[in-house]
This record gives sequence, structure tokens and C-alpha cells, in this order.
Amino acid sequence: MQGLTAPIIKGLWYVALNGRDLKSGKMQPKKLLGEPMLFGRTDDGAVFAIRDACPHRGIPLRYGSFDGQSIQCCYHGWRFDRTGACVEIPSLREGQQMDLTKICTPSYACVERQGMVWVFVPRAGETPAEAGFPEPPLMPDFAADADPRFHCMLPFHCSMDHAAFGLMDPTHAAYVHTSWWFKKGARKLRPKEKHFAPSELGWSMVRHELPPQNIAYKILGTPVTTEISYMLPGLRIENIRGSKMQATGLTAITPVDEGETEVHQFFWVSAAWMSLGKPLFQHLMRVFLDQDRRVVVQQREGLVHDPKLMLINDADTQARWWMRVKDAFVKAQADGKPFENPIQPMTLRWRS
Ligand code: FES
Ligand SMILES: [Fe+2]
Repeated sequence: MQGLTAPIIKGLWYVALNGRDLKSGKMQPKKLLGEPMLFGRTDDGAVFAIRDACPHRGIPLRYGSFDGQSIQCCYHGWRFDRTGACVEIPSLREGQQMDLTKICTPSYACVERQGMVWVFVPRAGETPAEAGFPEPPLMPDFAADADPRFHCMLPFHCSMDHAAFGLMDPTHAAYVHTSWWFKKGARKLRPKEKHFAPSELGWSMVRHELPPQNIAYKILGTPVTTEISYMLPGLRIENIRGSKMQATGLTAITPVDEGETEVHQFFWVSAAWMSLGKPLFQHLMRVFLDQDRRVVVQQREGLVHDPKLMLINDADTQARWWMRVKDAFVKAQADGKPFENPIQPMTLRWRS
């Protein structure tokens, strides 16, 4: 099991940004998966990502300027378009021929879907289609242009494995998420039994009806059903359907490097009036996510001593599945074979 660091998986789409945070004509540097990236949005609205390094002398391009179409390096003024291609070298004089098509900074496949900016980080220069993932996954029940109503992101000082364990850990809530508004008296643990089945790049807690006394979900109109899917490279997708409205939540884990992670929380809700509660709801989301963040920071104090860790049945079975799915995926990549999902349908029982 992983300690302070965990290897990064490439060849998949990662959530990079909330699209709203990337304004037209602006650029935003971000280190993701150990790579220096520069995200931008052209003045016609298209998002892009290039490597944040000038091919001339290596200075990060973020120190330069962006006119909404091309980025000019701050050092000698070389200009690059949104694909990373060099389009101008100001020092050249008549007769000094240079083939600019041979000069570029690498670019990343980058798309905006459902209000999120996704970036594809290739393993060995392959395109998303060659890797078998031409598009990032779509959140159920919402159109490709549906913006999330709520979003927050917190940096977690931990590897992506420990961040992922937190996502799929059914027994920490009573001890970590102890706000009065979330689980009052939650330490009265109750027996739980949930059914799981393999699904794309992971597994799902199969769709089931929520108890009618669940007040928050009553807003959606009974009966309310929910399905929670976990998939590589660290996505937890919870889809809740009621007779009156639907909601989908995405928690997305994006490694900054092997020991640092960004955790995004997004919510799409079909009812427009829900936006009225945005300041309050976003605040509660942040408090909730911060409880997870704090516990991994405390955990780190123990992990520096490299202790032997445990995963127990059935509370940690999903954490075991995470490691198995990840290992099977990386092995399939290395062998050049299609990924075969190692998860079998199973019922898990615990108290929480
Ligand atoms: S270092 Fe970028 S133009 Fe020279
Ligand atoms: Fe949590």
C-alpha cells in the first residue's frame, strides 16, 4: 500500500479547472501530473493547454503576455499559438530563414465539457483516441453544455491514493464529518449493506432507493434513487434521481505530482432555484471537503515514519478494489492490451 507518494497514471483525462475560473483572453499556469502546464482561453472562447516552457531558453511562458490568440514569451518575444506552435521570432531579419513549423512547445488535448476543463495527459505521445479515450466521461442526466451549479477545489497534501481512499471510505464520516448539519448523532452506527458491480474503469454501488425519511433528498421528490460510481483516474460520480429533479455530484482527484493532489467537488442540479442557496451550499461543501483535507494532513505525520498499513473487510474492500483496478490498468497499458476490469459483483456489509 502507498505511503507518502503514489505513482501517477497517464493516458487518461483529468479534471484541470472549473471552466468559469478561466476567463477569455486569460491564461492560468498549473502543475498537474508533475508537468508544468499553461491553460488558456482564447478570445473566441476555446480552451487550450500547452507546456509552460519556452522552447528557446526554457523560461515559463506564464511570465509572458497573452493577447487572446497567442502568447508572447517575456524573454525574447517569441510568439506561440494555442497549439504551442511558434508563429513569430521578432529578432529575425530579411534573409534569415528559419522553419518556424519545427519550433513548438508541446500541447495537451484539452476540452471543456459540462463546465469543466479536462486535460489529457499522454503516456508516450499518444492521442486520446489512440489511448482508447477520445472524450472525457460525461456526467449522467446533464447535457454536454450544462454548467455545474456548485464547485469548490482544495489542495490535499497527500498522494492520489490516500485522497482516493477517502472518497470510497464508508466508515470515516461518523468521525471526520461531524458537523451538526451533516450527521448529527452519527456515532450511533447502523448496519449497512450495499450491492456493487463492475462498471467502466471501476465499479458502482448499484442504484438503490434512499430511505423516505431522508429530508435532503425529499426535495427531489420521492422516490429518490442513487447510484455511485468510482472510476479511474479518481472520479466518484453520484447520480441522484427524484420524481421532481435530478442531481449529479462529481468528486475528482487530480494529482499535482506523486505526493500532492487537487480535489474538486462539482454539483449539477436540474432545478434553477437551487442557485439561490449557492453561497451557503458552497460554504458547506468547502467545510465538508476541508474535513477530509485536514485528516490527510494529520495522517501524513504518521506516514513519514513509513508504518505498515491495513485494509480490512468490508469497510476497506473498495480501497482494495481501487488498488486492483489501478494495477490492472497500468499492467494493461504496459502490455499493450485492453484493460480487463478485475471487479466482480459483490455485496458489502459494514457499520457506519
Ligand atoms: S526564452 Fe522565450 S523567447 Fe527566448
Ligand atoms: Fe469524507
